[in-house]
Amino acid sequence: MQKFDQLIQEAQARIAASGSLVALDEVRVHYLGKKGVLTEQLKALGALPASERPAAGQQTNQAKHAVTAMLDARRRELEAQTLSAQLTAATVDVTLPGRGQEPGGLHPVTQILERVQALFASLGFGVEEGPEIEDEFHNFDALNFKPGHPARAEMDTFYLKDWPLLLRTHTSPVQVRALLKHGAPLRIIAPGRTFRHDYDVTHTPMFHQVEGLLVDKEVSMAHLRGVLTDFLQRFFERDDLRLRFRPSYFPFVEPGAEVDINCIFCDGAGCRVCKHSGWLEVLGCGLVHPNVLDACRVDPRRYSGWAFGVGIERLGMLRYGISDIRMNFENDLRFLRQFR
Ligand code: PHE
Repeated sequence: MQKFDQLIQEAQARIAASGSLVALDEVRVHYLGKKGVLTEQLKALGALPASERPAAGQQTNQAKHAVTAMLDARRRELEAQTLSAQLTAATVDVTLPGRGQEPGGLHPVTQILERVQALFASLGFGVEEGPEIEDEFHNFDALNFKPGHPARAEMDTFYLKDWPLLLRTHTSPVQVRALLKHGAPLRIIAPGRTFRHDYDVTHTPMFHQVEGLLVDKEVSMAHLRGVLTDFLQRFFERDDLRLRFRPSYFPFVEPGAEVDINCIFCDGAGCRVCKHSGWLEVLGCGLVHPNVLDACRVDPRRYSGWAFGVGIERLGMLRYGISDIRMNFENDLRFLRQFR
């Protein structure tokens, strides 16, 4: 009896002195663990004479219950203390200034692409895509590039080692693919990446173009001029924007032209950007060559068409006043943040 009273007192003192859950668990193991003091006592009961066993068993169990209850009470106490310490430490200071949010944004090239697509969608043009790895047939042959003609060499083509594969030098091969797939009449634009080995302030080896193609009955240069005027005036948000068509050569159009707009930086007075000419070159275009229609199984006696190709980075440079095309692809946040 006395022995157990002493044991319980001692346990009470040790439990009260346990300052943490870990320390408290050590006390539990000491009394109630596999080899704990009370556990051993219970095991020893069997060795007692039968007459003493019931009384001794009762006392041991009482002691065990008393210790268990004290351990539980202290554990709850310690848990409550830990929680309140955590809550105090994690107090939210509502007077602190916010950390702010950094919204992301679309890349300027993406923004221009989407703008061009939206303008042509409003004119009923669907979007067509083609592969970036092309072959000689779609990139050159079907577009009326004759073998050995200098126009082929002028394209600065990246050839792959598996002839006749190459990286497309323009989006014009999509004209061929779309006509072969859908036939005439057809009204599409084809946005995408293009590749040429060229690198300076106005050229990067990868850049973007949007091709436009319209094939139907009695399509003329006048129609092309009307659509491009509407497109460029809306793109640059200038009703008074003037276009100038300069005769030019592309094997896949006849007649072919390059289109200039009056300089949007100096309004034609002459400045550094327009090299004091008052004009800015923006795109190439023309009436689809009969040989191209033929190669695409469209009868050139029944159908005619026009096409144009415009550089997206070029449009971006003009619209946003970007002076070096290479900035588009250097991932400098100081540049990109300006287009959020
Ligand atoms: N594909 C030509 C180029 O990349 C542009 C173009 C497209 C010209 C369609 C005429 C017609 O230079």
